[in-house]
Amino acid sequence: MIQLGDRALLKSEDGREYLVEITHRRFSTQHGFVELGDLVGSPYGTEVKSHLGKRFFVFSPTVEELVRHTKRQTQIIYPKEIGYLVTKLGISSGMTVVECGTGSGGLSTALAWFLRPDGRLITYEAREEFAELAGKNLAKAGLSHLVTIKVRDVVEDGFDEVEEADAVVLDMRTPWDLLPHAFKAMKGGAPLGVLVPTTNQVSETLRALKELPFASIEVCELMLRNWKPVADRLRPDDRMVAHTGFLVFARKVVRGEKRDDEPC
Ligand SMILES: C[S@@+](CC[C@H](N)C(=O)[O-])C[C@H]1O[C@@H](n2cnc3c(N)ncnc32)[C@H](O)[C@@H]1O
Repeated sequence: MIQLGDRALLKSEDGREYLVEITHRRFSTQHGFVELGDLVGSPYGTEVKSHLGKRFFVFSPTVEELVRHTKRQTQIIYPKEIGYLVTKLGISSGMTVVECGTGSGGLSTALAWFLRPDGRLITYEAREEFAELAGKNLAKAGLSHLVTIKVRDVVEDGFDEVEEADAVVLDMRTPWDLLPHAFKAMKGGAPLGVLVPTTNQVSETLRALKELPFASIEVCELMLRNWKPVADRLRPDDRMVAHTGFLVFARKVVRGEKRDDEPC
């Protein structure tokens, strides 16, 4: 059922989408306005008409839709990378995840969504204007309560967290500079995920990983080809996004010492 305070996606028949918070207000679209308060109590998937008689469907937004609706000033993060990253890092409720950099908050939105209802994301961003934009995007997605944004140059000042992170995600130009800080922030055995667009960044990251006790190092690239959904002429789309980025994964290894408080 649609409830006050929900985030909902209004989708018109010609494919226009609007991400809204359900309140008692009139929402203007290119096809006339919709009384959002009137939707309360209706099931999701319901159809509503604007005052001009145009039809909209009301959907509960998926994580892909929430990320697609973030306002961006930094590089776009694609669902294929998000999907694989959250699976490989095992992002789930109750975890503490540390991220750098926040950028526009696209990836932060996805991480926070998978951390619901009681995980936490601590995300670092060097530039105040991006931190502010990310804050607005997370609020629009209804996920701010799970996220702390810290404005800081992590290369210079490191992370605050010490052996606290269940996973660390690095999506910034020079991740190799942050690896000693990431290592310090991670719990033993925790996974690291790095996203970079070029092969030389991958090489630099691999060299830096070798300098620290990381294991299970993997590099991959994901490709997605959409097909035209026409049953009688089924074939791939003419165009595709050919390159988005590379993913590097590793796990923190803790060498040896047993703690005194552990049973023999
Ligand atoms: C590719 S963007 C991140 C995009 C983001 N994942 C998203 O989905 O919107 C990289 C971000 O890292 C930030 N950054 C780069 N170096 C940093 C550092 N040393 N400390 C903190 N943030 C940094 C940049 O300012 C930039 O906003």
